[in-house]
Amino acid sequence: MPDFNEANATELVLARMSECDNPRLKEIMTSVVKHLHAVVREVEPTVDEWMTAIEFLTRTGQMCDDRRQEFILLSDTLGVSMLVDAINHRKPSGTTESTVLGPFHVSGTPKKAMGDNISLDLKGEPVFVSGRVLDAEGGPVEGATLDVWQTSGNGLYDTQDPDQPENNLRGLFATGADGRYFFRSVRPMPYSVPVDGPVGKMLLALGRHPMRPAHIHMIVGAPGFEPVTTHLFIAGDEYLDSDAVFGVKDSLIVDFVRHDDAAAAEKLGLGNPFYTAEHDLVLAPPSGDRPQ
Ligand code: BEZ
Ligand code: FE
Repeated sequence: MPDFNEANATELVLARMSECDNPRLKEIMTSVVKHLHAVVREVEPTVDEWMTAIEFLTRTGQMCDDRRQEFILLSDTLGVSMLVDAINHRKPSGTTESTVLGPFHVSGTPKKAMGDNISLDLKGEPVFVSGRVLDAEGGPVEGATLDVWQTSGNGLYDTQDPDQPENNLRGLFATGADGRYFFRSVRPMPYSVPVDGPVGKMLLALGRHPMRPAHIHMIVGAPGFEPVTTHLFIAGDEYLDSDAVFGVKDSLIVDFVRHDDAAAAEKLGLGNPFYTAEHDLVLAPPSGDRPQ
C-alpha cells in the first residue's frame, strides 16, 4: 500500500470500504468522506482549529440528554433539518407546507373539544384560531387530528417554564364532517432557541441572533392522507426573514387580526382586545399515491 498523503488520502479511505456489504451505508459514507476531505483541503485547518472543532462536537454531545438535543439544534441552525425536510416532503402545490418539528413537542397531547382554550392560565393576549382541514380538491376532511402546541405570552413552552401548568398551550383536536377546526389560545411570542450550550456560542460567534418568529406548531393528519408537521407564523413578526432555524415559508404566514370589540369578545368567550387568525390546512395524499 502506498504511503497515505495529501494527494491520495480520499482514495485510500474510500478503498477501505470496498468490502462493505450495506450499499446504502457505503454510498452515504463515501459521500461523507469525500465532502469532509474536501472541507479540510479547502480550509486547511491548523491542528488547534481541528481540535476546536472536535471539542465543539464533544460539548454538543455532552449537552444532550432526554430533555435536550443539542445535535438537533445544530442541524436546525445550520439549515440541515429544513433541507432534509424539503427533500422528504416534496408536496403537490397548494397543499400545506411542512416545517421543523422542533424539540418541544411532547407525546400524549391532551384531547380537547373543538373550541376549547388551550391556554390554561390565560396569560397573554387572547386569540381565536380557526380554519378548515381540506383535501387537495378543496373538500372537507372529516376525522383529521390537529396536534397543537405553542409558547405562552412570555415566549416559553410549558416544559421550559415551571410557572406554567402542565400541558399548558397543548391540545389535540379532531374535525367533524365539515372539516372545520377552531380553538382559543393566547398570542405566541417570538423566542430564542436555547443559547446556553455550544450551539448558542456558535451563533454568537457567527454574528447570528438566536430568535424564532412567533408561531403555533401543528401536526395535522387524517386516515388516507400524508401527515404534515407545520406552523402558523404571524404576519409582521420582526424575525420572519431571519428565523434562526430557517423554518419560515410564505404560505404559512397568517394575519393575526386585532379586534377591540367587547361584544364580539364576549361572544367568543375571550377577553378584549383579542386577535383572530384564520388558516386552511390542505392535506396531500400519501406520497406513494402521487405521480412522481
Ligand atoms: C421550535 O420551534 O420549537 C424550535 C425549532 C427548532 C429549534 C428550537 C426550537
Ligand atoms: Fe416552536
